[in-house]
Amino acid sequence: MHTIESLSFEAKIQENREDSLRTLARETKAMNFSAHLNHPLFKSIGKIADENGQPAFAIGGFVRDLLIQRPCKDIDIVVEGSGIELAKRASEALGAGKVTVFKNFGTAMFRYHDWEVEFVGARKESYERGSRNPIVEDGTIEDDQLRRDFTINALALSLNEATFGDLIDPFNGLRDIENGCIRTPLDPDVTFSDDPLRMLRAIRFSTQLGFRIEDSNVKSIRRNAERLKIITQERIHTELHKIIMSDKPSKGFKLLDKGDLLHRFFPELSNLKGIEWRDGIGHKDNFYHTLEVLDNVAENSDNLWLRWSALLHDIAKPATKRFQKKHGWTFHGHEDRGARMVPKIFKRMKLPLDQKMKFVQKMVLLHLRPIALTKNQITDSAVRRLLFDAGDDIDALMILCRADITSKNEAKVKRYLANYDVVLEKLKDVEEKDSLRNFQPPVSGEEIMATFGIPPSKPIGTIKSAIKEAILEGDIPNEPVAARKLMLQIASEMGLKAVK
Ligand code: CTP
Repeated sequence: MHTIESLSFEAKIQENREDSLRTLARETKAMNFSAHLNHPLFKSIGKIADENGQPAFAIGGFVRDLLIQRPCKDIDIVVEGSGIELAKRASEALGAGKVTVFKNFGTAMFRYHDWEVEFVGARKESYERGSRNPIVEDGTIEDDQLRRDFTINALALSLNEATFGDLIDPFNGLRDIENGCIRTPLDPDVTFSDDPLRMLRAIRFSTQLGFRIEDSNVKSIRRNAERLKIITQERIHTELHKIIMSDKPSKGFKLLDKGDLLHRFFPELSNLKGIEWRDGIGHKDNFYHTLEVLDNVAENSDNLWLRWSALLHDIAKPATKRFQKKHGWTFHGHEDRGARMVPKIFKRMKLPLDQKMKFVQKMVLLHLRPIALTKNQITDSAVRRLLFDAGDDIDALMILCRADITSKNEAKVKRYLANYDVVLEKLKDVEEKDSLRNFQPPVSGEEIMATFGIPPSKPIGTIKSAIKEAILEGDIPNEPVAARKLMLQIASEMGLKAVK
């Protein structure tokens, strides 16, 4: 392990360095985490590194998660010298099997039980403006720690025998973990400009871990926000998904907005911000309402795409907003227009354009239906139609609909919730009676053709939809016998004669 004297940091972190050195002097001996590295894997890697004469460390997210006791199955190992060589020898010694080598990155990995272990040689990196491709040179552990994104991600634990479990923490990452603080090791302008994705990572970690981002870092994010343009949509949405999947995603979105980042990749969401007043009448701030709905959904569902549906359910409100003297603010048709906006947003963000997108569209389109039902007498037929349109996604739709009931007016919330419960009850009743969730026409097109000896033609569609309507209206049960009877009746009115 390196002595304190051999640490070589750049001048720009002089202040930080002195602080760090003091900490190191105070804590290096005391701070030993060998008890945390109780898996034999770590000792084996350390032993081989010793044989090679290489300092080796567990580093980054693995150490952070170990200290905050968050489960983590990815281990990053940094060695001075070749990481690939060490990976090969360690895998052999452990009987871990195939080593995957990424020559271009100088990294190698293998799986061992349920661990994924990645090895890399310590690096010194600098970045070219306008690109996120680093220029990489071999370096020491300190160089490697210095180039990392946050102090809490720059912690290293020694694996070599003599120093096994010693914490190398030149930037007070441990203190930041204790205080719940996200902070860059270097001047934040340097760290964020080197890889602007880190601005999103800061917000993501803050949301996931409930940590605050140090003020100077928030200011720096605002200063560097424009640099986000060099980051691909895929990398952006990967971070965004981690924010969306956290326990309280609203925190992340508020920070994205505060950091001047949100409108750069998600202008539709940021356009929901603000309240307009006319004749003393205002409307909800749809940005904060949307975030409340998202948090509500997050409390009840881990379905990423349902959470996306919450984010997008009111997305067309700005485009459909009108003020009428008689009715005040209206957003007529925002569900339909919103559903039509979904593909454009998904395409731009490079999100999947498959069933997942279709699901989100469906949720946005139907999100008003359950509560709209309660405006009139809740008839069985209206409930049946809802069940028919939502199909298997009815449960997800009801979670969204429940989450959408937000208001400062408690009486209003109470009334809506009561209505919601009535719809839920009715849905249960109707479901028990008719199996409409996955509606399959009880009489098929083939059967109609065979019965009347006719080729594929318009009358078949007419008969099928008349049967479906009769079922939804409750005129006949959802059963083949009743459906066949109705088929014969309609056909005869159309002048068709059964041939069998
Ligand atoms: N890292 C970095 N800058 C980035 C990405 C990663 O400095 N833009 C460093 C950090 O030290 C990080 C480590 O690489 O801890 C591993 O990165 P990654 O696996 O992406 O993230 P984790 O920190 O492990 O967190 P998570 O698994 O939650 O993504």
